[in-house]
Amino acid sequence: MKILILNGPNLNMLGKREPEIYGKNTLSNLQDLIENYCKDLKYDVEFYQSNHEGDLIDKIQSSAVDGIVFNAGAYTHTSVALRDAISSVKTPVIEVHISNVHSREEFRHKSLISPVCLGVICGFGFNSYLLAINGLHLFLSKDVK
Ligand code: DQA
Repeated sequence: MKILILNGPNLNMLGKREPEIYGKNTLSNLQDLIENYCKDLKYDVEFYQSNHEGDLIDKIQSSAVDGIVFNAGAYTHTSVALRDAISSVKTPVIEVHISNVHSREEFRHKSLISPVCLGVICGFGFNSYLLAINGLHLFLSKDVK
């Protein structure tokens, strides 16, 4: 199995950006954590981060993977185009957030992509990604529906 970890705008700033919300660890630390987790599951993993909506859309459309874990950052709350990109592929996509978006500003409570994702995980820090990978693994191995 191969999965894509897709990160949207400003997630390249992890470690520097609002550490009281997103923690002190960097995107590279996050990737190491995920790589180790995927090794245990025997999953191949690809990482991609972009600050540009169109690049994220191109990546969703062109990825030959079994599942996508997607932190769309602020585009979560604004992007019809990303929602349409997710709808346009058969690949299961899990939406993740590091922070608990529901305990933050009201504009973060609405996600345009949640309705077209397989599931949503938020609020567990970097572990949100591991929980999403685990959910994807259970889904892909058809153990749980
Ligand atoms: C985020 C939450 C979004 O509201 C915010 O715009 C981000 C990060 C998170 O991971 O908690 O960029 O997706």
